[in-house]
Amino acid sequence: LKVLSVASEAVPLVKTGGLADVAGALPGALAPHGVEMTTLLPGYPSVLAALGRRPKVVHAWDSLLGTPARLLAGTLPDGHPLLVLDAPALYTREGGPYSDAAGIDWADNWQRFAALGKAAAEIAGGVIIKRGKPQGFDVLHAHDWQAAMAPAYLRYVPLGAAGCRSVITIHNMAFQGWFAPEVFDRIELPSSAWALDGVEYHGGVGMLKAGLSSADAITTVSPTYAREIRSTVFGMGLEGLIVERGAAVHGILNGIDANVWNPASDAALAAPYSHRTLDKRRANKRALEAEFGLDESDGPIFIVVTRLTWQKGMDVLPDVLDHLVGIGGRLALLGSGDAALERALIEGAARHPGRVGIRIGYDEALSHRMQAGGDAILIPSRFEPCGLTQLYGLAYGCLPVVARTGGLADTVIDANPAALAAGCATGVQFDGVTYDDLAAAITRTVQLHAQPDVWERLQKNAMKSDFSWEASGKAYADLYRTLTA
Ligand code: ADP
Ligand code: GLC
Repeated sequence: LKVLSVASEAVPLVKTGGLADVAGALPGALAPHGVEMTTLLPGYPSVLAALGRRPKVVHAWDSLLGTPARLLAGTLPDGHPLLVLDAPALYTREGGPYSDAAGIDWADNWQRFAALGKAAAEIAGGVIIKRGKPQGFDVLHAHDWQAAMAPAYLRYVPLGAAGCRSVITIHNMAFQGWFAPEVFDRIELPSSAWALDGVEYHGGVGMLKAGLSSADAITTVSPTYAREIRSTVFGMGLEGLIVERGAAVHGILNGIDANVWNPASDAALAAPYSHRTLDKRRANKRALEAEFGLDESDGPIFIVVTRLTWQKGMDVLPDVLDHLVGIGGRLALLGSGDAALERALIEGAARHPGRVGIRIGYDEALSHRMQAGGDAILIPSRFEPCGLTQLYGLAYGCLPVVARTGGLADTVIDANPAALAAGCATGVQFDGVTYDDLAAAITRTVQLHAQPDVWERLQKNAMKSDFSWEASGKAYADLYRTLTA
């Protein structure tokens, strides 16, 4: 089965969040299930660089939505096939994949990602010709709004009679890719696409909406989030469409890539370890204290590794610092994002020298060292489609303390009396993203940590829990097969 996965980021070439981890891991997750997945990425400078100096040109457009473009073929560093849409006017620029260095969205994002969708649909339909034969795909799998126009082009401008099926995965309903109505005249769709069950959304072009109404199947990244987005709060305007699509909507949990996230073989760590050699975590804890300027102690270190946004509940954290420190906790935080949140956290840290350390920025290796040296990872998200940092925390024995929502609810077993008695708890869950609930969860965690036997049991349970791609890779493969049967 040949699947074209279309995403706006994928590790290790370009990453702003969990989408990149997932898009980068999927080809490897699907291969054991007889699925050959090719990844299509926009030709950002970092992606072009990975192709080497003489990439193979497998197709060229004189005009792709008004701009010349070439399709380059190569492989991802892990050997899976890669296609790159090289359209210099759209993607070859300094800055982030969606915004400039100042964080302002690129004004031509409508064109950048409509072009990605159009190219994807043509590729899936067989625009690449090899030895006189079109090389189409059985399934096109689009991720988030940036790739969401692909299923719409496939539906409204089908190429050949290939009969390619489509899947769209929602990684985050909060980002919907909405553009002014004028954009519709420039994206080369037939007028019939301007419809309630097409691309029109609140009087403009809704890219995520277009994908959700056009794809043969919709997935999101946890069963709980798949239910939550049927409601107004989580559906963010698209709940009606999700309810209407009914059985076409599936929740498939993300996995983690054990080649990248394994404490026993992680080259970033001061001392690699496994659930059998937990005592080696101490060296990682001492290294983390040194790195964040924290006083040495055996009390718990909470860590946070996140985008600093409202979604992640980071506005509640600064106020809770006094409580966390007051009951003997310490905190090491790595994050970047909202400038006001950055300031509030830096101010909070200044009140607690030796107790709270803040690192503003993005640092992949440091995030590994934090999971290995921290005792618990705080994740007070208001919504969390899946979440990956709690899965990394589980694998590293850095116990997740999470809001009970989305994928956090599906992957962490709260240390309540029943779970403790059954010996299966792996972390702490709490209900509301409020000062009181977060403070109470931190208190509970400190109390658990004060009981070394209980804590060690929790760590072992966490490290043995299986969030590899095995089950979810099979779930995607089954879905593709159902669609193409
Ligand atoms: P989201 O995609 O919503 O940001 P996820 O938990 O799914 O949330 O994925 C976040 C990914 O980004 C994880 O791999 C996490 O380790 C990483 N990450 C987030 N912020 C940082 C940071 N400041 N430095 C390094 N890695 C980060
Ligand atoms: C999004 C979500 C996050 C999820 C990630 C990968 O960024 O916010 O919860 O883990 O996508 O699916």
